[in-house]
Amino acid sequence: MTSTPATTPDLLEKVTNLAKRRGFIFPSAEIYGGFRSTYDYGPLGVNMLGNVKRAWWRSMVQMRSDIVGLDAAILGPPAIWAASGHLETFTDPLVDCKKCKERWREDKIDGVCPNCGSTKFTEPRAFNLMFKTQAGPVEGEGATAYLRPETAQGIFTNFANVLATVRKKPPFGIAQIGKSFRNEITPQNFVFRTREFEQMEMEYFVAPADADQWYRYWIATRLAWYLDLGIPEEQLRLHEHAQEDLSHYSRGTTDVEFAFPWGWDELEGVANRGDYDLTQHANASGVALDYFDQTTKERYTPFVIEPAAGATRAMMAFLLAAYHEDVVEGESRTVLRLDWRLAPYQVAVLPLSKKSELEDVSREVLELLQPHFMCDYDVTQSIGRRYRRQDEVGTPYCVTVDFATLEDRAVTVRDRDTTAQVRVPIGELLASLRERTGQS
Ligand code: GAP
Repeated sequence: MTSTPATTPDLLEKVTNLAKRRGFIFPSAEIYGGFRSTYDYGPLGVNMLGNVKRAWWRSMVQMRSDIVGLDAAILGPPAIWAASGHLETFTDPLVDCKKCKERWREDKIDGVCPNCGSTKFTEPRAFNLMFKTQAGPVEGEGATAYLRPETAQGIFTNFANVLATVRKKPPFGIAQIGKSFRNEITPQNFVFRTREFEQMEMEYFVAPADADQWYRYWIATRLAWYLDLGIPEEQLRLHEHAQEDLSHYSRGTTDVEFAFPWGWDELEGVANRGDYDLTQHANASGVALDYFDQTTKERYTPFVIEPAAGATRAMMAFLLAAYHEDVVEGESRTVLRLDWRLAPYQVAVLPLSKKSELEDVSREVLELLQPHFMCDYDVTQSIGRRYRRQDEVGTPYCVTVDFATLEDRAVTVRDRDTTAQVRVPIGELLASLRERTGQS
């Protein structure tokens, strides 16, 4: 078997095409010509994105006793965003090309219009990236609301609620997954930068003296998460921001970067936010957002270490890293070498033919596996074509029911990566698949 390296010049196009063709990601409102870099997640995409989020929740909440979850509102009053600094500073420098009138983010174009090549632009002006809307039927300032541009602020505004209800003490964290919205000037590169996206953020509250140690801990822990889910080491790196590039709230930020087809770019940011957010919200709301340590009798405002990832961006990186073109026994195939935890389907049950005796046993096998694995069931086309289709969407195991099954009550299990096939009795199938996926 030969394999091409994952990053080829046309990789982005290939993955974008595959994502659409096989039901991962569709351009939104496509029947109306699409809508401004928004995307819909199709039957396979919603499975995979769910798996990315589940893998994050498992490692950040389920497997820990120091982190709890939260699901805060998307709409928020201006007071939150005034206190957080977003109303004033969450801006990008907007310029207009004087020749073709296209609008660009000044810091992304190196002084040359990507549309017409002109170097003449208007003076940059600060463009706030938040989506502003009205809550309720009354117009006017009292009804102004914003769609959150990050999930983090809902965590800070609930700090006292959580502290009072779950009896945690620093170091402890609050995790949240959900949609965020930014009116990006130039959304680009498929789902890498979109105006509506999903974040997976965790705010970890620590004693100020311990902040640096936890900052380092979370950088290493988050890098390890991507490695564990199958992104090769050489496609990941850490990038520490220079002091002058830090966000308004940050005392230090390190990005986990991925080798995207256009070069290294941010996958996730890990920031030491200091006591900025809790202090700002405490001052603006008049509610104390600090912690009293019973043992030392000290009251302090915790520092916050924040690993902030994009769920949709992470899914894109997992797809890019998994994409391979193989030649198996002289035949070329496309294969997504996704970790089984991320694959849209973990098992495909394939009756060799549409004959009803085979379908009956196949349904029995499907029902045996469905409570434990996300399964596909496919009876159309030749078995070779069906294997290729499952390879292309990253299904780790195909279970084929053939005429011999009717005699020996055994099925063929085919491994996506090696294409090796083994015969397994139906009675041992569940245990065998569990063992293969490291669950036993
Ligand atoms: N609370 C901190 C925060 O939001 P950020 O670096 O602006 O930090 C965190 O965002 C992560 O969210 C990014 O690393 C990226 O994965 C994802 N993200 C940010 N803007 C995005 C966009 N327009 N489209 C898709 N993902 C985005």
